[in-house]
Amino acid sequence: MSETISVTDVCIAGTGSYVPERILTNSELARLVDTSDEWIFSRTGIRERRIAAADEFTSHMATKAAARALEQAGLAPEDLELIILATITPDTLTPATACYVQQRLGATRAVAFDISAACSGFLYAMKISKRLISVGAFKNALIIGADKLSTITNWEDRSTCVLFGDGSGAAVLRAAEPGEGAIVATEMGTDGNLTHILAVPGGGSACPITAANVNDHLQALVMQGKEVFKFAVNRMKEAAEKVIARAGWQPEDIACVIPHQANRRIIDAIADRLAVPNERIFVNLDKYGNTSAAAVAIALDEANRTGVFKRGDHIVLVVFGAGLTWAAAAIRW
Ligand code: ACO
Repeated sequence: MSETISVTDVCIAGTGSYVPERILTNSELARLVDTSDEWIFSRTGIRERRIAAADEFTSHMATKAAARALEQAGLAPEDLELIILATITPDTLTPATACYVQQRLGATRAVAFDISAACSGFLYAMKISKRLISVGAFKNALIIGADKLSTITNWEDRSTCVLFGDGSGAAVLRAAEPGEGAIVATEMGTDGNLTHILAVPGGGSACPITAANVNDHLQALVMQGKEVFKFAVNRMKEAAEKVIARAGWQPEDIACVIPHQANRRIIDAIADRLAVPNERIFVNLDKYGNTSAAAVAIALDEANRTGVFKRGDHIVLVVFGAGLTWAAAAIRW
């Protein structure tokens, strides 16, 4: 899908994030499965990840990130008009996790719903809400990426359990005032021919959960790592190039690229192909691993709050995930 019209510029007025307290290190994982800190770090760049408590749900993490984003935006929950929450680990299959968040925030006027696009969900939500605001359907929107991947991880499978973690990130979007920043270009895409290389086979209508298939770990993520790797590099490169071209920028104009935080080697390959110097690529996956829809949102918030970019800087977000899906955004901050 590509941009064709823009009625009103839409800016990011605030960001927020939250990660659970419990840190699970590579060394601890090496006591659960046959792996090592050296293998995990050299193949992925991950040192540790956060794990939510049993009574801390996706909606709890999402609400904390959302409250921080609303506070930074200076927007009262009751003035919020739209909540889009991206997750593959909803609290319940229905109602949507966004409904629990709406209730906890006291955002009584907001329309709230979930979207499922795995790790691409936050940028899917950004594109959808940007468009809805730009044509005047809503004045503002809260977009959230939140996942509790620890609940769909097979803790006996060393090829996947070392990769994932829990967390949430959020952003408040609204119509921009003259002179403010803007989401300049967005891109998203899907290839349904590749559903099989990254999936949770059980828990839906195709394979309802039974005791037998839980024993077979069918409620957990399965992945063909090498295939996902190749796809991720190609699609993220293309998506980033499209939004950079549409924004009319050159690689040297970009202050910061925030890629999906899945694997350091994927990030390095993207940086090479985009010809953006490594110091302009934001990376925090060493601390959190891959938190799916939350990953790029947490990274955006950390970069924002630590002054990695300033007002007027050009930044690029780019992601990929199960589906397979991909998305990118070019933002003038
Ligand atoms: N510790 C030690 N050895 C391991 C581990 C581990 N944790 N995991 C796999 N190995 C072994 C394998 O068994 C294999 O052994 P063998 O050669 O004896 O068969 C060897 O290491 C190499 O395995 P590969 O799978 O070839 O390792 P690779 O270099 O491809 O790295 C990885 C694997 C890290 C998973 C990589 O393929 C990758 O990052 N892929 C992309 C994954 C990704 O980004 N997923 C996104 C999910 S997003 C979402 O929607 C939730």
